[in-house]
Amino acid sequence: MGHGNRTKRAVKKSALNSIIVCRCEEISEDEVRQAIKNGYHSPEELKRILRIGMGHCSGRGCMRVVARIIEEMTGIPIAKLQFPKSRPPVKPIKLQLLGQYRYESKDS
Ligand code: FES
Repeated sequence: MGHGNRTKRAVKKSALNSIIVCRCEEISEDEVRQAIKNGYHSPEELKRILRIGMGHCSGRGCMRVVARIIEEMTGIPIAKLQFPKSRPPVKPIKLQLLGQYRYESKDS
């Protein structure tokens, strides 16, 4: 994303005067609430349309907040919500560690 797009998004968000729910992808609470009103009632669906949870932290900073907003607006209990599947790496790691990894087969 270029600076121009980022600036447009920042202006759009400040106009909405809303709290940022997903810091990594700069998704506001208003955007989440609007998507829920439009019929997207699971974190998985919100991830697909808003990119929420697709940032550096892989949703650790926003998914619980999003789940609470969904529960509040729809009445669907958090335990019944469909969350996105976690993909490796489960935690952020330095690329240096991956570069040091050596695969050793059982045959050698
Ligand atoms: S805060 Fe949403 S992906 Fe990091």
